[in-house]
Amino acid sequence: MASSIFWPRTRKVFLALVISTFCRNAHSNPEHYRASWPAAVHDRWAMLRDERVSQSYSVDTIQGWDDGSVQCGTPDDSQPMWFTQGGCSLASQDITYADTSGDVTVIRTAAKGDLIKLTCDDVYCPIPARVDCYEQPGICSSDEWCMIDIHERWGPWAMARDGSTPQWEYCFTAADIVANSTDEALIASYNADCVASTVGDYGIKLGPKTEAWKPARGRCVSFRKEEESCIGNPLEFGPFEPDFGLNYAREENGWPFPRPLVCGPGLTCTGAEFEVRPSTCVVQRPVNICFAGPWWDSTQCPRTESDAPKGGLTMNQAVEAIRRAILLYPGEIASPGECAYWNRTSNVGVSVLATQHRIYNIVAALWPTQLFDTIPSFNQVMQLIPDPNLYGSPSDCVAQADVPDSDINKALAGAATLSSQPNQVWSLVHFLMHNQQAPLSPKRVAASRALAAHLSESFWCDDCRGFFSVGIIEVYGLPPMSSNPEDHARWWWYGHNVASEHVATTRGGHPWIHELGEQGVASFQNPFFMTWRDAVDMWTYNDS
Ligand SMILES: *[C@@H]1O[C@H](CO)[C@@H](O)[C@H](O)[C@H]1NC(C)=O
Ligand SMILES: *[C@@H]1O[C@H](CO)[C@@H](O)[C@H](O)[C@H]1NC(C)=O
Repeated sequence: MASSIFWPRTRKVFLALVISTFCRNAHSNPEHYRASWPAAVHDRWAMLRDERVSQSYSVDTIQGWDDGSVQCGTPDDSQPMWFTQGGCSLASQDITYADTSGDVTVIRTAAKGDLIKLTCDDVYCPIPARVDCYEQPGICSSDEWCMIDIHERWGPWAMARDGSTPQWEYCFTAADIVANSTDEALIASYNADCVASTVGDYGIKLGPKTEAWKPARGRCVSFRKEEESCIGNPLEFGPFEPDFGLNYAREENGWPFPRPLVCGPGLTCTGAEFEVRPSTCVVQRPVNICFAGPWWDSTQCPRTESDAPKGGLTMNQAVEAIRRAILLYPGEIASPGECAYWNRTSNVGVSVLATQHRIYNIVAALWPTQLFDTIPSFNQVMQLIPDPNLYGSPSDCVAQADVPDSDINKALAGAATLSSQPNQVWSLVHFLMHNQQAPLSPKRVAASRALAAHLSESFWCDDCRGFFSVGIIEVYGLPPMSSNPEDHARWWWYGHNVASEHVATTRGGHPWIHELGEQGVASFQNPFFMTWRDAVDMWTYNDS
């Protein structure tokens, strides 16, 4: 009977199709193209393997050869995967398998980790399962994250080798009917649509176990540790993160990470642009602390004062910070603790006054008028400064500078103290930059840029000025021309992080003297990289 002859043939073809499709649902992997080799090539390949194995046994051990155990060749220290050359792999699980490598098929049992006479496209056979944490959310442990991988979902559309689209539902449903049928036309169509042309190379959904067309998959991977490399920090939505935070880590540009290089909790990634320490996991700099150190005065730290708002500065704190910033002048030329700085009849004194006016103008241009009353005038600010000119002439200054408890002596000492509190300059800068309204006026944009240039030429500490100029402005340029306040706040945030890597608070001294993590000094080195999120929380005005 035609049908009884036909039935087993179709079954066999169909089964072969199913098997080959299961095997072929990855892109052209070695196993896939090996499957298309003629038997003679397979035999030759197996023979070569056997030769490699037997050659590796010396005459002395020839008895051991072919004693029924698995033969994989001889271990070779320079070749960690030496056994693959003998057609072996490591069992990824306890397994019983058919060893077809010899003349007689042997059923073997192996424990996980044993050498087995099976090949997969992997050092382990069967290839270890990677459970998909995208499909099964919540399976990663606390020191892991779910790294996802996304591809365009091609699906089976036009994916058969002839460009047709497999009709799997019909092919499955009709299989038995066709198998029992004697209708030549039905059989021919079935063969054409379901058998002959649908052996595609690109995988086809065959059932619940094979799902080659999911557009996203995920695997649990470990976080990176301190000083290890990283790609960047995962995409965040700043203050809106609690509302909009995503399930899966992505790069800033929205694309999944191509490698599991995300820093663990408490760490942050410097990023590729961080010139001197690119793409490194570093400890996050904590908020609201002004680190103490050998030559600067951090005892007056606005963010830790009892009247500090939840975020940003009070008006009074901002004015206090201006009292420090207004004294900036290159220390090697003149500094507020010496009379030359205050002698307004000298060229230096005139230059000091011009410098003071410039920083005042910059701060006034950036003043957060939506938060505070108008900024005190230049003269009002100067009246808040201990100024020896209030107590006498330049020659009185020279005469009384060293007279203990004289007004001039106290004014010089007071001015010197204010000028050695650089943390207040940074506080003022970040507070101003994080509290701008959009869009920035051209004057405010110019003020942000002028502020960077001003620090570059007028910050009192000379090597700090050098680090700021060479480390930030030379590498990243001035703040952008953008009228978006966030672009400016980010420039100053990132610039400060970069600057901090160079400076003594992070090192314990000059970067040439102390490398990061160096023995003897590592325990004194402060973390230098604050996250953007922390900076926003810390500096955006919030008195709730
Ligand atoms: C096909 O034939 C077999 C054996 O005669 C029978 O058991 C089966 O139900 C038939 N299937 C269909 C779909 O007709
Ligand atoms: C102040 O500067 C002027 C101009 O350079 C100079 O002649 C004068 O001696 C200075 N005064 C003091 C006390 O140094």
